[in-house]
Formats: sequence, C-alpha cells, structure tokens
Amino acid sequence: MPRKPIIAGNWKLNKTVKEAVEFTEGLKKVICNINRAILPEVVIAPVFTSLYSVNEIIKGSNCIKLSAQNCYWESSGAFTGEVAVDMLKEVGCSYIIIGHSERRQYFCESDEMINKKAKAILASGVTPIICCGETLEQREAGQTDSHIKSQIEAALKDISEEDISKSVIAYEPIWAIGTGKTCDSVEANRVIKMIRETVKTIAGDNAANAIRILYGGSVKPSTIEEQMSQSDIDGALVGGASLTVESFAGIIDGCMKVKA
Ligand code: 13P
Repeated sequence: MPRKPIIAGNWKLNKTVKEAVEFTEGLKKVICNINRAILPEVVIAPVFTSLYSVNEIIKGSNCIKLSAQNCYWESSGAFTGEVAVDMLKEVGCSYIIIGHSERRQYFCESDEMINKKAKAILASGVTPIICCGETLEQREAGQTDSHIKSQIEAALKDISEEDISKSVIAYEPIWAIGTGKTCDSVEANRVIKMIRETVKTIAGDNAANAIRILYGGSVKPSTIEEQMSQSDIDGALVGGASLTVESFAGIIDGCMKVKA
C-alpha cells in the first residue's frame, strides 16, 4: 500500500492565539474542499497556548490535524513547566514532534529522553514525529550516516514493531534548517533510504515499508515537487514556509501535483 504523504508545519515559537486562529481559518478555506483521497495528511504544530483554539476550528473537519512541538513523558506530578501527552491529546493533538534539533541543542534533550517521550506518546495512541539530523561538522567529517543511525536506534529502543510502523521520522539536516540551503533531494532521499534500512534492521520489512519518513530543512513551494518525486521521501516538516497560508498551501499543492 502506498504511504500517505504528510505535510506538517512546525511553527516553532511563532504566532499568538489570534494569529494562529486566523491562519487556521484561512488554511481551512483553501484546503478543506479538496478531495481527501488526493489531499496529503496536513498537520500544523502551533505553540501550546494556541492548541485548544486551533482545535476548535479544525475538529470535525478531518482535513487538518494538530500536533504539539514537544511533551513530557510522565503523566502528572511535580514537573514544573511540562505538559503531558494525554493533556495534548485532550486538546486534539494526534501528533507530537520530538527530538527537534532545536530542543536537542538549546534544551539539552538526549536520545534517552527522546526514547522516553516516544514510548509515552505511543502508549497514549498519539503519533510521534521523531526528528533526526546531522550538523555541518558531522557531514563534513563523513559522520552523517553513523550519527543518524545511532539517533534512530536510540529513539526506537524497546518499541514494538507495530508501534514503530505507526511512527513518523523527520530527517532534518541541521545545516539546512532556517538557512535557505535545502539539502539536495537525491542526497536527502539517500539518507532517508538509509533510515528506512535502519528501521528494517530494528523492526523488520513491514515496519520499514509502513513508516513515513519526512524531509525538513528550508522546504518551500519551489522545492517540494522535486522532493516529493523521490522514492522514499514521504512528505515534509516545514518551518518558515509554514507560517503563511499562501506558502504552506503552495507546499501542499506541490505535494499533490506529484503524489495525487
Ligand atoms: P525551516 O523550514 O525554516 O528550515 O525549518 C525546518 C524545521 O526545523 C522544521 O521542523
């Protein structure tokens, strides 16, 4: 069965509640009339404070799905400042992004923490979007594949084949994030194939064929068609270009041109 593409917008630390609501109403008008059979899975990841209001707009429409940008692995207790998976589920999240390079870099998230988050997310029936990617130094030192392989092995440690097959991975080379320097599509596809091979070794053929692996890093309406034409790229995790309806809808449109 072909894998359903995903176009996900990671808003990072952007948009007030008012701005998030305006965006969501605008996007809904543009994409919700499109035949669901050709529309990719469209996901938006606002900041925590906007999740409830955004969900009020999209619930029931089934054309836009909601993601959080982070979570904690415990369900309650003395963990000041954290948000539990079930709380995110309660406000409509069906996805949670984990292990983004910005969280690893600025908030000291380790592979072990990311594995705990992945397990907690899957235990609640939510889908993790597990990010991985190399720095420019690692790429130049020829360590891209070994680094990513170890990030994936650590993130998926002790997770069942069934849960792995439902998960999503995003390959985001750090040097391509927010820089305008998109990774060459053929190279992105090569790394993504390598990630799929790694999943195959861990969880077998079925999981490797089912798991969706996205590319992220300076994705724009002008790059998406070439990216989606690659054999193993199942969609995009978009930062900057997901912040206006026009460019995000342009990316969704480009995806449909190739995959519909
Ligand atoms: P940009 O699309 O702004 O490069 O960000 C990519 C990203 O980090 C998405 O998670």
